[in-house]
Amino acid sequence: MMPVVLKKLSINVVTFSLLLSCVFAFAQDEPYAQSNDLGAVASVHPLATQAGMDALANGGNAVDAAIATALTLGVVDGHNSGIGGGAFVLIRTAKGQLFAIDGRETAPMAAHRDMYVVDGVANTQLSQTGPLAAGVPGSIAAYEIAIAKAGAKPYADVLLPAAKLAQDGFAIDKIFADRLARSAPRLAQFPGSASVLLDEQGNPWPRGHKLVQKDLAATLKAIARDGSAYFYKGDYAKAVGDWMAKNGGLLTAKDFEAYVALERQPLLTQYRGYTLVGFPPPSSGGVHTAQILAMLERFDLANMKDGDRYHVMGEAMKLAFADRAHWLGDPAFTKVPKGLVKAEYLDKQSARIDLDHAIDVSGPGMPADVDIDLFAKHTTHIAAADKLGNWVAITTTVNTDFGSKVIVPGTGVILNNQMDDFSVQPGVPNVYGLVGTEANSVQPGKRPLSSMTPTLILKDNKPVMTVGAAGGPTIITQVVQAIINHLDLALPLNDALGKSRIHQQWRPDMLFVESNLPAGIRQSLVVKGHKLKEMPPYGSTQAIALVDGRLVAVAEPRLKIRNAE
Ligand code: GLY
Repeated sequence: MMPVVLKKLSINVVTFSLLLSCVFAFAQDEPYAQSNDLGAVASVHPLATQAGMDALANGGNAVDAAIATALTLGVVDGHNSGIGGGAFVLIRTAKGQLFAIDGRETAPMAAHRDMYVVDGVANTQLSQTGPLAAGVPGSIAAYEIAIAKAGAKPYADVLLPAAKLAQDGFAIDKIFADRLARSAPRLAQFPGSASVLLDEQGNPWPRGHKLVQKDLAATLKAIARDGSAYFYKGDYAKAVGDWMAKNGGLLTAKDFEAYVALERQPLLTQYRGYTLVGFPPPSSGGVHTAQILAMLERFDLANMKDGDRYHVMGEAMKLAFADRAHWLGDPAFTKVPKGLVKAEYLDKQSARIDLDHAIDVSGPGMPADVDIDLFAKHTTHIAAADKLGNWVAITTTVNTDFGSKVIVPGTGVILNNQMDDFSVQPGVPNVYGLVGTEANSVQPGKRPLSSMTPTLILKDNKPVMTVGAAGGPTIITQVVQAIINHLDLALPLNDALGKSRIHQQWRPDMLFVESNLPAGIRQSLVVKGHKLKEMPPYGSTQAIALVDGRLVAVAEPRLKIRNAE
């Protein structure tokens, strides 16, 4: 457990009970996750977390703070997320209103089912890198709606600090430098990207280099001036459309003009007396988090042996991911049955779990190649809450490292490669090894299925936790384990996030285990018939919980190790 530091505050009697919820902070030694008397923010970068805390200090609420954090992450952590990508924003306001704002990318109108199939074979290079990989980005539209519905500040107020940081520059950290080195050969194919992210010889900038992004600053300032219209109907859309036309892409200025972020009905389910507020499709995260937890509710997780608990968790994950491959897609194009989260169905599914043996779950599709980098961490999650009772969960992404690798010259915006989240051909795994069917095939204007799982948890209609993660399909299973570890096992939040993780996604039929999972637990899982695959510590979960009336913010405990000297 991280040390808890008491901040010096002048407290009057009237505000004492309010402040009591926030007077303890992790801030002084934990720059990734801060809390003070105004609220709390957790993210994967200290500058982004600070931007959120600054927004609170300047009269913003948790919504403003979360969006300031997200926009800043796009500047300092652009390999994971940015305004060229998409986002799911989940909000519970102090008045109890819920908002689920879908800023997922959409396929261009000229996209078609077999656009990545060449001579009968899916070419996933095309869906992962270059002009065909990007969908219309949705984050800018989603944040604008979120601020208008539930923020306290004008949109410009959260955009301009991010623009200033892009203009002034920042020192790139180890994680950024490592990702940049890995992506450099593909970034070098695109002059707009190379001019920002590589030196004149085409080498990636090293750790500590001060990265200045003048074009990105100008784009952010233009959005601050004109609103999202600049991005979707103005010069930015035109620049992208022109570049795509010259470089074999399908995205047009009209695709941008047609883009809308959608307000959706949050998915409400119950778990052991808590209300889970999840994100509905095209996120698969809300559905499968609800499924996995409901299947596990009939087990006494808190009092099980560790090996048995990991076993039943893995089995519930397997059953849920088999459903994901078959049923889940953009609900505007695909019938996603609500029965997937109904108790009757999940009781039956849960009854299939055998305490002694790993079961065989048959179903559609099987990846041909299991040697895929399933656990590279992409995407990012931001948790924020404030003293008024606004709670926010934003998961946002450009998909894999630096998305499509394309920066259209003059814009500074890294475009996503979210088209790879479609099922490019039934049975062909995407970059995460996930297979899918027609439910998630490419269609014009369709949104690719996502694993992003922003989640809020209420008890007696009051928020007690906000949580989400990064890491492709492991997002879902990270969120499930954070919830179980904190709520069932009653672990302090930092320990709940730090506990060894497992992941099962049906295909490949393997139980992925972190390398620090104790040998005795592994042995008991092997005895039950699991095929184990060891992974280095992975993932990135951010959460805030109300603990004894205090806001406790935690950023991924593995993060500091990963970014270490
Ligand atoms: N791009 C990762 C996801 O949305 O699941």
